[in-house]
Formats: sequence, structure tokens, C-alpha cells
Amino acid sequence: MIKKPFTLLAAAIALVLVAATSANAAVDVEAAKALAKADDCLKCHAAEKEKKGPSMKEIADKYRGKPEGQEKAIKNMTEAMEVELRPKGSGKKEKHKVISTKKPEELKNMADWYLSH
Ligand code: HEC
Repeated sequence: MIKKPFTLLAAAIALVLVAATSANAAVDVEAAKALAKADDCLKCHAAEKEKKGPSMKEIADKYRGKPEGQEKAIKNMTEAMEVELRPKGSGKKEKHKVISTKKPEELKNMADWYLSH
């Protein structure tokens, strides 16, 4: 019986921590947009519309509810992997553009911005 208050307290602390973490992780939309513009990402990615690349919404839908989304998105923007340009089945392949920043917080912010659509 004596355990219960501690369990409750632990749960309360955990909740506060989760709230604090997600507040810190809020996307800096302006910073992400400015970098995407400077790096020409928007030439191929729009919020809703498919361009030469999938829309940000399509990317977000693909990873919705999947914790590995951020890591996968960062990989895609840093490793010059071969991608097929849209529309699907175009057969046009090229190396994906490499983002100009190496700062983990900027990479995460960009990934989170894409995934927030
Ligand atoms: C020449 C067009 C082009 C440019 C420029 C471009 N992308 Fe892409 N991007 C693509 C294509 C095509 C895909 C689809 C890859 C696939 O589905 O296999 C893609 C996929 C992605 C994905 C999703 C990865 C996944 O796991 O599904 C992210 C995130 C992304 N791009 C971010 C960026 C960022 C950030 C930039 C700017 C630094 C950028 N892209 C510039 C064409 C482009």
C-alpha cells in the first residue's frame, strides 16, 4: 500500500518531463523554411503538392506514428542516396540533394518540419 503515493508521484514527474521535452522540440518553422529555400528543397518539395519530390504531407503520412521517421528523414537529406524523381515510375533517378547544414539541431528541425505536415 505504501507504494502507491510514490507511483503517483513518479507518474506526475514523468508527465512534467514529457511536457517539457515536447515543448523544447517545437518546430522552428521559420528557420526550417529559410534553410529549405536557401538549399532549393522547395524546388522539389511543397507542403501538399507533388513536385519532383513527394509532398511534405506524403512524407509525414508515411512516417505518422513511426518513431524512426526523424532519423530516416535526416538520412535522406544527408546521405545523397539515389531517389527516383516524381511522378512515380518516371524512371528518372538521381542522387538526392545533400542539405547544407551538419548541425544536428538544424537537421532535426528540418526533419520535424517535414514530418509536421
Ligand atoms: C531534385 C529534386 C529534390 C530536391 C532538390 C530535394 N529533394 Fe527531397 N526528395 C526528392 C525525391 C524524388 C524524394 C523521394 C525519395 C523516395 O521516395 O524514394 C525525396 C525525399 C525526401 C524526403 C523523404 C525521405 C523518406 O524517407 O521518405 C525528405 C525528408 C526530403 N526529401 C528532404 C529534402 C530536403 C531537406 C531537401 C533540401 C536540402 C530536399 N529534400 C531536396 C527530391 C528532391
